Amino acid sequence: MAVITFANTKGGAGKTTAVLLLASELARRGLRVCVIDTDPQRWLSKWRDNADHRIDLTVITYVSITTLQQHVLDNRKKFDHVIVDLPGAQSPLLATAVGLSNHVIIPVQGSTMDAQGAAQVLELLRYLDDRAGIKIPHSVLLSRVNSMVTTRALLAAKALLAKRDVNVLNTPIIERAAFRDMFEFRGYLHMMNPSQVSNLDKALQNSMAYADEVLRLLPAQGTVRLSSAA
Ligand SMILES: Nc1ncnc2c1ncn2[C@@H]1O[C@H](COP(=O)(O)OP(=O)(O)O)[C@@H](O)[C@H]1O
Ligand SMILES: [Mg+2]
Repeated sequence: MAVITFANTKGGAGKTTAVLLLASELARRGLRVCVIDTDPQRWLSKWRDNADHRIDLTVITYVSITTLQQHVLDNRKKFDHVIVDLPGAQSPLLATAVGLSNHVIIPVQGSTMDAQGAAQVLELLRYLDDRAGIKIPHSVLLSRVNSMVTTRALLAAKALLAKRDVNVLNTPIIERAAFRDMFEFRGYLHMMNPSQVSNLDKALQNSMAYADEVLRLLPAQGTVRLSSAA
């Protein structure tokens, strides 16, 4: 129903981590989720290939510029949420994915605040608005934020982006071993063993608060915009 794209033209911004966290949490809540993995590195597809039988997440893989639109249009009818993960580098898939989205989330690595890759996405969104009147709701997500400096980093980033009228999610994704290790694990974050993963409870709380906030950004079920291409 709703299409959410994670975009930042720089690799390492935290896109794929944010996608897997959101998909896992929505699946935990019983929602039907489809992830479209457009990254030729196939991180999410590899995780899916190795996952155990309890994982029912649909991951679409080997997606090209010619098939992306059809994948999105087909799957948004079948699933509650379609989440698009974009490649690390600049890609022609960006404009297509963004144009099909109900919301674009732009992860920015909180520790470095390297905003160049995010700025390129924001420029594209502004261009679509100014030149074509296409307004695509979007938000910045602070990722890999050091738990000790959360408040300070968040406030600084919010102030910076507020000047440009950019929404920043209140919940940053904290830098945690659990978020790194989940790619090696054969299941969802909530299936990990708390005795083997440090601060798993805090990681889960973070993931839930983040998913709550993303859900609040989306149009209510049943009122999702359907483009004329549908
Ligand atoms: N919140 C986090 N805590 C710990 N490690 C993280 C976190 N976010 C990302 N990483 C790690 O940083 C690297 C890049 O993150 P990734 O999500 O793959 O970024 P992108 O998809 O934008 O290239 C990966 O090795 C990932 O495990
Ligand atoms: Mg990635």
